[in-house]
Amino acid sequence: MNIQWYPGHMTKAIRMMQEDIKLIDIVVELVDARVPLSSKNPDIDQLAKGKSRLILLNKADLADRAKTQAWEQYFKDRGFYVHSLDARTGKSVKSVTGIIQEACREKIERDRRRGIINRPVRAMVVGIPNVGKSTFINTYAGKACTKTGNKPGVTKGKQWIRLNKNVELLDTPGILWPKFEDQTVGMKLAIIGSIKDDLLDITELAWNLTGFLVDNYPGILEKRYNIDEKRDKIEIIEQIALARGCLQKGGAPDTAKASKLLLDDFRSARLGAITLDLPV
Ligand code: G4P
Repeated sequence: MNIQWYPGHMTKAIRMMQEDIKLIDIVVELVDARVPLSSKNPDIDQLAKGKSRLILLNKADLADRAKTQAWEQYFKDRGFYVHSLDARTGKSVKSVTGIIQEACREKIERDRRRGIINRPVRAMVVGIPNVGKSTFINTYAGKACTKTGNKPGVTKGKQWIRLNKNVELLDTPGILWPKFEDQTVGMKLAIIGSIKDDLLDITELAWNLTGFLVDNYPGILEKRYNIDEKRDKIEIIEQIALARGCLQKGGAPDTAKASKLLLDDFRSARLGAITLDLPV
């Protein structure tokens, strides 16, 4: 399967990001907790050079908790501030302000020494499509936010969301492009549903997911569909089709339909909380 990202989009995205990053103190980067590396574009490290960094492992509700903890450690070891959350709920989002301030402590201290007091830290959210950037901004900003912009001293055309007296957020997130050089990255992003299904071979995705689950989460398919996992991957999908009544005319298993069902069950965590990128 060959998934492409168009260079035209990429050039524009890089240019916008370079301009926006000049205005901010901290880059808040969202990755998908089920695929923290595959949903991360390392080019941001170059773009965000010299800025404070916070990685949010979003959709943690869908990911394997033990693996999320291992990923948190992985990013901490590499000098990032890290927090895992479900951007749809306010609870885990609330602590982000404290972490942003902690991450920008040096800058706040520097300002204070220069007599600049109470200047809010400016943050920008970035991430690849579908990782939850808009959801996070909406939940984080909530109803209480006030928009600032188009006033003296504020860059024309930029809208800032004043979250509280300490943090301002650029209201449009930076869209990073997925890194598709490694085909398994494209495959994993497709499995989690980040890439439109009508562009993809669903059966191939389900076949890959089945192999991964049998190897890394043994018993999960047996439990959900009451089938025998110790079979060939294609036989497993056929068994799922039979177990769930996905049949063609004449009664043969409809593997395309069963593949869609398996992917839907995975994406909505009906198979359980599963992480596809194994911590390294
Ligand atoms: P983007 O701006 O980065 O492109 O992503 P966006 O916020 O549009 O979110 C993409 C999808 O991911 C949305 O679902 C959103 O509800 C879901 N989402 C965001 N954060 C979380 C999270 O922490 N946990 C879970 N489980 N889902 C999350 P959708 O199906 O596209 O829309 P809808 O079902 O919300 O209408």
